[in-house]
Amino acid sequence: MNTSVDFESVLSLIDKTISPTYLNPTQEIVLREVWNGKTYSKMAYDYNYDPEYIKTVGCNLWQTLSSAFDEQINKGNFVPFMRLKISQLVEDKISRLENYQSQSISTDFKKRQSCNWTTAPNTNHFVGRESEIKLLKSWSQDSDCRCIVVSGMIGCGKTSLVTKFAQDIKDNYDFVIWFSLHHTPSLKTLLHNYLKIIKQLTNEQIHLGPVELSFLLSEFIDCLKQHKVLLVLDSLQSILETNRKNVSYKKEFDDYSQFLRSIISTNHQSLLISASRIKPKSLEYYTSNQVKILDLQGFNQQTTKTFLNLENNSAKQEQQLLRLSVTLQNNPQLLKIVENHLDIFSDDNTEQILQDLSLLEAISNLLEQELSYLSELEKEIIYWLAISCAPISLTELSNYLELSQPKLTLSHSVNCLTKRSLIIQNDAHYSLMPIMKSYLRRKLIKQALQSKSHH
Ligand SMILES: Nc1ncnc2c1ncn2[C@@H]1O[C@H](COP(=O)(O)OP(=O)(O)OP(=O)(O)O)[C@@H](O)[C@H]1O
Ligand SMILES: [Mg+2]
Repeated sequence: MNTSVDFESVLSLIDKTISPTYLNPTQEIVLREVWNGKTYSKMAYDYNYDPEYIKTVGCNLWQTLSSAFDEQINKGNFVPFMRLKISQLVEDKISRLENYQSQSISTDFKKRQSCNWTTAPNTNHFVGRESEIKLLKSWSQDSDCRCIVVSGMIGCGKTSLVTKFAQDIKDNYDFVIWFSLHHTPSLKTLLHNYLKIIKQLTNEQIHLGPVELSFLLSEFIDCLKQHKVLLVLDSLQSILETNRKNVSYKKEFDDYSQFLRSIISTNHQSLLISASRIKPKSLEYYTSNQVKILDLQGFNQQTTKTFLNLENNSAKQEQQLLRLSVTLQNNPQLLKIVENHLDIFSDDNTEQILQDLSLLEAISNLLEQELSYLSELEKEIIYWLAISCAPISLTELSNYLELSQPKLTLSHSVNCLTKRSLIIQNDAHYSLMPIMKSYLRRKLIKQALQSKSHH
């Protein structure tokens, strides 16, 4: 038995080191029991596993740990290696703590311990978004509000905004936990991780081993009642899909609907804020106090100026860049790509630059991804707008559409596309985001030529 170093500290160190991947419950059992000096065959017997299976789990585990710690780790040296690592860390921590002179700094240290930012992006260069942050703050102060979803076009700045917001208000919460669904963890894995983090932060014992989802969920909701937790969940779209008409959960992630439902409709003092390219239809079924949705657009002009750092450019270049930014709907991700290719644009003509831009692979990849989140009807609308020369009205649009859609469905879709910044509304006329228009026209011509050469 290892009494000098606590196994939970070992687990916590491993979690941090292998993040953003996680240990699954079986891997955790193996580690715990190796730590306790058990053999694989005894483990297999105790937990009713096939001995070969335990061996494979072990083998993979040592590989993961070896590459994460950049050192050869195996069953034989795991315990001494970890003991050494932890004692080095403790020594480091003590010497760092000794360096803290004033009381205020050491409380600050405690504060930092109560946040878990995992793979949250750095927001040191965050600009603008004052009104959005003000709105999010006011929603978060409403005690009925359980869930906020920031939704919008790819690259419009959702992750940056929710992260900055969470950093701004972290002091109003006992804990802040930032997580991304980018790697599509199962709900069980996600809950396991949440519980582990919360229990670590509260120094409680961790209940481990394979457990029922319903048990994990109720224990998790219990934590949200006992503590005021701000959960930041990024890339919600990873577990969603757009069907012909609606957005729903992917089949294998269906249980996430239960997760959201529990957070939204039970009584607790915590808040979930999520960033997502698309939003599940089911959110519409809750009251507007419980669930708030922010349809995030691109930057305003002032923020674009600050973001692009235009001070060193001539007034003419500045005007040109700002004109170009408008054709990108001031989408920060697109602006970044353009900023990296400024040297290749010698032309004065915005239209020509737009044509050149739509040829860039970075841009076409991004626009194709954006299209993949749209419903059939939304795509059809987008294509009609792409080939139309002038802005068109809803009536004209409805005449074009092949399947005659009820007017209400059509105007709903047009509305959604406008909120996504893909469509621009001017009086009662609609046009397509210019960069998307250039891209799609080129794509249509290419497809036409290809199909011609096939015949
Ligand atoms: N307010 C901001 N200040 C500074 N940089 C920003 C801001 N918003 C976004 N960015 C930058 O723009 C890029 C895209 O932003 P972000 O990743 O937040 O977008 P997103 O909407 O989450 O994208 P995706 O749909 O791919 O998840 C990032 O490089 C980010 O640093
Ligand atoms: Mg994001």
